[in-house]
Amino acid sequence: MIKAIKASLAVTRRQVKSSLAVTRRQTNDAANLAPVVVTGSSGYIGSFVVAELLSRGYIVHAPVRGSSTNPNKIAHLQALPNSENLKIFDGGDLTLAGSFDSAMNGAGAVIHTAAEVVLGKSQSIITASVEGTNNVLKSVDKAGINRFVQTSSVAAIQKYNVPPNHIFTENDWNDWSSVEKGDAYGVAKTQAEQIVHAHFADDEDRSSIAVNPGVVIGPVLSKAHTKASAIFLRDCIYGNKVMNFPCTFVDVRDVAIGHVNALEKLPEFKGRRFVLVNDEKCMPQGGVELGPVAARLFPGHKFDVKPQYPESVMKILRPLSRIPLLGGHIMDEYQRVAQSTPIQFSNKAAREELGVDFRSLDVTVKEGIESIVDQGFAKLK
Ligand SMILES: NC(=O)c1ccc[n+]([C@@H]2O[C@H](COP(=O)([O-])OP(=O)(O)OC[C@H]3O[C@@H](n4cnc5c(N)ncnc54)[C@H](OP(=O)(O)O)[C@@H]3O)[C@@H](O)[C@H]2O)c1
Repeated sequence: MIKAIKASLAVTRRQVKSSLAVTRRQTNDAANLAPVVVTGSSGYIGSFVVAELLSRGYIVHAPVRGSSTNPNKIAHLQALPNSENLKIFDGGDLTLAGSFDSAMNGAGAVIHTAAEVVLGKSQSIITASVEGTNNVLKSVDKAGINRFVQTSSVAAIQKYNVPPNHIFTENDWNDWSSVEKGDAYGVAKTQAEQIVHAHFADDEDRSSIAVNPGVVIGPVLSKAHTKASAIFLRDCIYGNKVMNFPCTFVDVRDVAIGHVNALEKLPEFKGRRFVLVNDEKCMPQGGVELGPVAARLFPGHKFDVKPQYPESVMKILRPLSRIPLLGGHIMDEYQRVAQSTPIQFSNKAAREELGVDFRSLDVTVKEGIESIVDQGFAKLK
């Protein structure tokens, strides 16, 4: 058992070394900046942000709730290159005011990735996001931290009240979603991002920036990550049903680079936001379309992905869902509209101003699946 854990950590180390495609430079920023706090360090995006910061020579504070009783949550972080510059804090619960104070003490910047990543129509998704962000900001103020990076989402940008073929950019805000329509997550991400920008807007010594990723896939650093959005790849391997909503994907390593580049662009880029998606067009059938990509990249193996919402069924349910009163029980408006409306984003600003050189979908899928398989989290069929 110990042998297996050691082997998997060795794979993880090799993977991070080879996969974080940044020059291993000790940036001026890293040398001059006090520690960077990463909320949500145990999570999929947060872990890669920690890896990216460490690789650039930053000292990182990682608040991880329950880390002292559940070492599995942090083993992959402790195995990262340069982990001698990583300090773990047991704590950091978004629902508890003050629980980020100790991790923020003495820090110079925050990258706020933590959030309840849940889709649906529950008001509690919004409450957790808004209260959580406010709690984090209170700790930031107490510690006198002056640079803040918010992990937002394309969910804070995309909306369905625009002409067809609209190309979404950072100028778009999601003013369409609501709990009633069934997209509490879109509201939660929009409100949290707006709270952050407003918090720093009038303070000339302090600044915030947001990054807005599409659907994040790629390599993983822990088994838990295969159940975050990298689940799209795990489901491909298993031939499970996957959500066939239109998706624009992005590699988790590019998302991490985007976060740290954004941090290093402050205060110059104060109040800006950056869409992080790869160069491919939106894939109308989302995760289902990853199956043929994986089959081409791994000849001789099976990736029989099935749609969670088959078109034959949706064709019947969509009109029924428009019936007043009854329709909402069949399908909510978000589900009906989003499932059938591909959305195109421009990543021009991230490429040209933030300097993110997005990996191709092929590289992301190939190295993502290899990462899951090599660490023993799933077997190819
Ligand atoms: N994945 C995507 O496709 C995607 C796309 C766009 C934007 N985003 C955004 O990226 C961020 C990170 O998402 P992810 O994919 O990395 O999700 P994830 O793997 O589920 O990680 C979420 C992180 O947030 C922490 N967290 C959740 N609830 C918390 C709470 N009540 N208090 C403190 N920490 C809490 C988790 O900590 P525990 O381990 O303690 O639960 C975990 O570290 C989120 O803000 C999400 O909205 C994600």
